[in-house]
Formats: sequence, structure tokens, C-alpha cells
Amino acid sequence: MKAMVYKKYGPPEVLKVEEVTKPVPKSNEVLIKVIAATVTATDCTFRKGKPFFSRLYTGITKPKHQILGSEFTGEIIRVGKNVKSFQVGNKVIGTTPGYGAYTEFICQQEEGSTLAKLPSDINYEEAIACCDGFLTALPFLRAKGEIKKGDKVLINGASGSVGSAAVQLSKYFGAEVTGVCSSSSIELVKSIGADKVIDYTKESLTNSDDRFDIIFDVVGNTTFSMCKKLLNKNGKYLQAGITLSVFPSVIWTSLIGSKKALIMATGLRPPVERSKDLIFIGELLQADKIKAIIDKIYSFDQMVEAHHYVDGGHKKGNVVIQISDF
Ligand SMILES: NC(=O)c1ccc[n+]([C@@H]2O[C@H](COP(=O)([O-])OP(=O)(O)OC[C@H]3O[C@@H](n4cnc5c(N)ncnc54)[C@H](OP(=O)(O)O)[C@@H]3O)[C@@H](O)[C@H]2O)c1
Repeated sequence: MKAMVYKKYGPPEVLKVEEVTKPVPKSNEVLIKVIAATVTATDCTFRKGKPFFSRLYTGITKPKHQILGSEFTGEIIRVGKNVKSFQVGNKVIGTTPGYGAYTEFICQQEEGSTLAKLPSDINYEEAIACCDGFLTALPFLRAKGEIKKGDKVLINGASGSVGSAAVQLSKYFGAEVTGVCSSSSIELVKSIGADKVIDYTKESLTNSDDRFDIIFDVVGNTTFSMCKKLLNKNGKYLQAGITLSVFPSVIWTSLIGSKKALIMATGLRPPVERSKDLIFIGELLQADKIKAIIDKIYSFDQMVEAHHYVDGGHKKGNVVIQISDF
């Protein structure tokens, strides 16, 4: 089978198509024909090996796992003999530990992997475009932000994968949302529910006269100290694009003060929790409470081009890779 392999860190050109052995499911696993994957900002981080601290996870001198790709949708084509909750023919969505999805076939454990059935009327490409962003924004807003109806929420980087999901989920939870993006993304950010938009090319979010219960910096180009004055009492500063400089604020505010700086590595949450969230996200999608934001769809053979595009840092929503026919 075909897989997109990388043996060293670097630009998108380190990605090469190779023939690898098709996996065989163990008794507690299912074999999935992969239909769609994505190129996420995190995939690009893992490909580059930058920032350097990401290599603590992916391998210090070279990638420990050579097939990149963190999420997929597809169809189950074989089940191990002990598998109870999935059948051949199920449409599924799942995530990997950050590697393994850029391939034609993948095995996942019935338990111990992030895997969920998809509602039958949801397209593979729509579903995959609601994976990374929502699986990140949901635990950030719910567990760290403790979001509730009436909260005022600011989202920096509101047009990307995590940001567009955060805008939609904040509205779903009944919050009032201000999105920060560039001029070309204003229409998109308003169309997914933002009540106000700050164009960062014209004004700095730190000059806002508004005060917020949650500031969710998805991009990671602000600091807690810059944003502290914009937070209400007990306000939370959340950072997804984790920078080294955020760690002192996280430690310091855990000890004193009512305003908190908080981070999380959502990909490291227990698979059972992530699978439950995928089911919830599928239900929101099916009920038209959220929508998939797809910027571009590339073929598997256009992976290098897709990585270049995402490296640019200005994708709108999600970049989908079609691996088999939708
Ligand atoms: N902590 C976690 O568990 C976790 C999980 C997933 C992802 N992440 C991280 O979260 C970050 C964002 O991921 P993503 O998938 O949402 O990225 P993305 O889809 O590439 O989005 C980046 C967005 O940032 C906006 N942007 C660029 N420069 C900006 C600026 N100066 N001010 C405000 N917005 C700006 C861009 O909007 P414009 O085009 O409008 O400029 C773009 O839409 C990445 O660093 C990723 O690694 C963390």
C-alpha cells in the first residue's frame, strides 16, 4: 500500500510516497480503508521538528515514526475476532498519536484508540474537517475555560482550524464572541457566528475596550501579561499554540491571582474521552449546530503542495487530503 513517509525533519519535500506493508488487524483491532486525512498545523510542526521541544515527542535527531498524519476518516474493512462495537462497513473517524494517517490502510484498537462511528449522512470530507479543530477547542473551552452561557470570549486566530471551531463552539455554549483575524478572513469569521471581529492588520487586540471571561489565543503570539488587563475577574487566558514563554505564567497564576493562564496538550487526553468528543462533534454536525470549514482539498499525490500551503500559516479552516474516492 502507499504511505507518505518522512525519514528526516525539514521542508515539505522530505515527504515521499513509498510502498509499505499493509497492516493486519490483531484480535482487538479494526482495519480501516482511509478515505480522507488532513494537513494540520501540528503535522507541519512534526514534519519540521520545530520548535525543537516538539522533538521530545517525535524523536530528537530524526522522526521515530516515519508515516506522518494525525487524523483520518474511512471505512472499516476487517474486524479482529474480539471486536464487539464496530462492524465491517462502518464509516469511522479517528485520530492517531500524531503519526500514521497518511496511508491507504490503518489499524486501530477498538479500545485504546481514538475512534468513533460517523453518522451515515455525514460526508467523509466534512467530518475530517471537524476533527482537529473541534477536538482541540472543545476541551480547551470546556475544561480549562469552564465556558458558560453569557461569557464574553475572545479568540485570537479565529479563522484557522482551531479558531473557527472555537468560534462555533463558543456560540453553541451561548457566549458572546470576538474573533481576531486578518482582513481577508473577516467574512468567514462573521459567517460562523462571531459577534465582533478585530482585524489584526489594522488594530491590536490589546487596545480593545472590551473585557473578557476567556481569551483563547490559538495562534500563540500574545502573552498572559499582554492580555491580563483585558480579562474580567476570574478570567482565563488559554493558549493552544503553546510557546515556551507561557510556562512561567501558567505556574505563577496557578499559585496566586484570580486570573489564570492555562494550556493543555489535547492530543494526549485519554482516547476514550476523545472518542466521546468525536461522537458529540458528529452529533453537532448532523444537527447543523456547527459546520465544516474546508479551505482546500488536495489529492494524496499533492501532499507536498498541501504542506507548503499550511506552512504559510493562513489557511482558512482546514486542508483536506483525499486518499481514496469520497
Ligand atoms: N495545544 C494543543 O493541544 C493543540 C492542538 C492542536 C493545535 N495546536 C496548535 O494550535 C495552533 C493553531 O492551529 P490551527 O490548526 O488553528 O492553525 P491554522 O489553521 O494554521 O490557523 C492559523 C490561523 O492563525 C491566523 N493568524 C496568523 N497570524 C495571525 C496573527 N498575527 N494574529 C491573529 N491571527 C493570525 C491565520 O488567520 P489569517 O489568515 O486571518 O491571518 C490562520 O487562520 C498551532 O500552533 C497548532 O500547533 C495546539
